[in-house]
Amino acid sequence: MNWIVADWPWGIDFAVEKNRENGDTALFYRKSCFNRKNGDMGRLRQARLPSSIRSWGAGIGGSSFSMTVFTKGVAVSVEPVRWINNKLVIIDQTLLPALYKEMELNTAADVWEAIKVLRVRGAPAIGVCAAFGVVVGVREKAPQTIEEAHRAVNETAAFLATSRPTAVNLFWALDRMKAFAAACDASRLPAFLQAIEAEAVDICEEDKRRCRAIGEHGAALIQNGYGVLTHCNAGALATAAYGTALAVMFRAHELGKRFAVFADETRPLLQGARLTAWELQQAGIDVTLICDNMAAQVMREGRIQMVVVGADRIAANGDVANKIGTYGVATLAKAHGIPFYVAAPLSTFDLTLESGAEIPIELRDSEEVTHGFGKQTAPDGVKVYNPAFDVTPAEHIAGIITEQGILRRPFEESIESAMDRSNTTGG
Ligand code: MRU
Repeated sequence: MNWIVADWPWGIDFAVEKNRENGDTALFYRKSCFNRKNGDMGRLRQARLPSSIRSWGAGIGGSSFSMTVFTKGVAVSVEPVRWINNKLVIIDQTLLPALYKEMELNTAADVWEAIKVLRVRGAPAIGVCAAFGVVVGVREKAPQTIEEAHRAVNETAAFLATSRPTAVNLFWALDRMKAFAAACDASRLPAFLQAIEAEAVDICEEDKRRCRAIGEHGAALIQNGYGVLTHCNAGALATAAYGTALAVMFRAHELGKRFAVFADETRPLLQGARLTAWELQQAGIDVTLICDNMAAQVMREGRIQMVVVGADRIAANGDVANKIGTYGVATLAKAHGIPFYVAAPLSTFDLTLESGAEIPIELRDSEEVTHGFGKQTAPDGVKVYNPAFDVTPAEHIAGIITEQGILRRPFEESIESAMDRSNTTGG
């Protein structure tokens, strides 16, 4: 039996049981009747779900209650960052796939921590979360005047910008919030606060549209019978919804194409195993998990016809920073004559950088390598080098799938004209 258990502070428990043989799903729930005096958890009730439902994720934001439903064979996108009843609510991705749990982020420090420890991760999702984080941080400071509110926007943005260095979407979203606030002509405080909230919501909705368009453009690349390899997680969880690299797969699946996905486990934090395998499974896509060091063999066996990954920052020449290990996969793909694609929205491009050599690479805690998920796997005191990202040179990349279409070499030119088209059409 597979269990997804949501354990809520409000005392409502959910569990979803899937019967592996016939695919039936049952939802167990316990109403919010936790009795603090005697510890009684209330009666466990059970509801049998229609067989078309694969699983349910349940969440509470403020006083509202929400559910994410995955129907068999149809990709219904997870939304990892949402604004519900004036609250910022995220899925805590550090707990997946064992636990689907949502949490509220009520302070700028909460938002900073959530990004830092990867409760929210993936370049576009980090950007969306930071945009809402500015709203949260300004409210927290309780400004009394417009001037104070402007100061609060800039201070909060400066603080959130220190959370992680590589994904440019973080800085893109913060810069956009700052520019919007600076240009906002609201003369009264409530109107100003409402306006910056609306801008953050716009950033979120825009990311969803960009991801949908990436899926549309990229799906054409997948042919029946293909094996598609991906690294890390560039799915709905890494964006506002739907994903980038996985959007290509979700859309191809919706179009009825038959293909198999190989998901790299992605050491050291296992985003491929924990998140990509989970998302693809929920969508009913054929997914096989492999350890990172198996990719070469799987390619040699002829199982892979295409690679598609996401990106954290793309320089003007088309060099791509993505999760550590991506460069190795691209090199292997080249050696085996397999096309290597990157899927990313234009908010992931940083045209201030000429090449990938200028992209700041995050170094993370050595414990992620020596004590993965709490278990010691290396001797005490061993030296560790733990870069979280690497740079794939543009010459390894067959194309970059964006909301403006698939960009081809020479990337300097195709990137520039995609940006121009986007500016003309308003994104
Ligand atoms: O460290 P993470 O999990 O934030 O790294 C995420 C990745 O590298 C993704 O591939 C990238 O952000 C693209 S997300 C659409």
